[in-house]
Amino acid sequence: MTGRLLVVGAVNVDMVVAAPTLPGPGETVVGEDLQRHGGGKGGNAAVAAARSGAEVRFVGAVGNDALGTGALADLRDDAIDVTDVAIKAEAATGAALIVVDADGENQIAVAAGANAAITPGDVDAAFARAEGWPDCVLISTEITAAAVVHAVAAATANGWLCVLNPAPAAPGIREALGQAPILTPNRGELLDVYRLLGGTGAPPVDTAARAVAARTGAPVVVTLGAEGILVCDAFGVTTRIPAQTARAVVDTTGAGDTFNGVFAASLAAGQDLLSAARRGVAAAALSVEAAGARTSMPHAPAIDTALTPADRGQP
Ligand code: RIB
Ligand code: NA
Repeated sequence: MTGRLLVVGAVNVDMVVAAPTLPGPGETVVGEDLQRHGGGKGGNAAVAAARSGAEVRFVGAVGNDALGTGALADLRDDAIDVTDVAIKAEAATGAALIVVDADGENQIAVAAGANAAITPGDVDAAFARAEGWPDCVLISTEITAAAVVHAVAAATANGWLCVLNPAPAAPGIREALGQAPILTPNRGELLDVYRLLGGTGAPPVDTAARAVAARTGAPVVVTLGAEGILVCDAFGVTTRIPAQTARAVVDTTGAGDTFNGVFAASLAAGQDLLSAARRGVAAAALSVEAAGARTSMPHAPAIDTALTPADRGQP
């Protein structure tokens, strides 16, 4: 099962300290050795998609530095086409400072670097080369809002199925919501999107998802961590998909990105909304079992083993 997926988003190098607890304001926590992992929501989703069986092209930017060379090598190792990654001589490769606690929870600060230098022109160049190629486009918002808005509009104009991961859901992406992309917010981002679309108060997840779908006319898939996901289709019909229990929760960094990558890859391969969502949930549950965002992202056979026969659409 192979689909062609274009991923537009950020790529970072993650600098990770595993510590017993997360630091509070003004507090110092002490862990062991500094770990370096590939990161960035776009890069992570691209890797998850490729491992799940998709042909993947990544559209993003790195600096002209050693971290950038390493970041591209990591993507290439997963057979991702990085031809469309711009090298920004004036910027540094994006980096994330991450602390992971004993329960696998994290705290992240990102230095956006080259990701903040991606322009609509970069998107145009990549999309021109991709003409006639993608089955689906996954766009995440850790890059400039102008590039996000442009990418969603151009993908829609090309008739490409478009998934927008609004992480973060900054005011600058409001215009993109009008193009009816499939949205994949987490709980907090759902409320941000709801408010960007004029909603008030803090309704429960189901209500907010239905309100957003009614405004955009497109599905909304809300990632709820250990609780799994809520799928709300374009007509407001909601389905909860619980997450499989992870054997050991070591590091939840990138679990949402894993969901996004595998979900979009499965849509690209022609699966329906719920089947693609189930596959994404199964992959995300497996992704938390090792340190680093990408280390335990599963390949297709492991995802398929984790799905129940009913999930696979078998009697
Ligand atoms: O979603 C996890 C990612 O967020 C990390 O890899 C980090 O780079 C930040 O972008
Ligand atoms: Na992990």
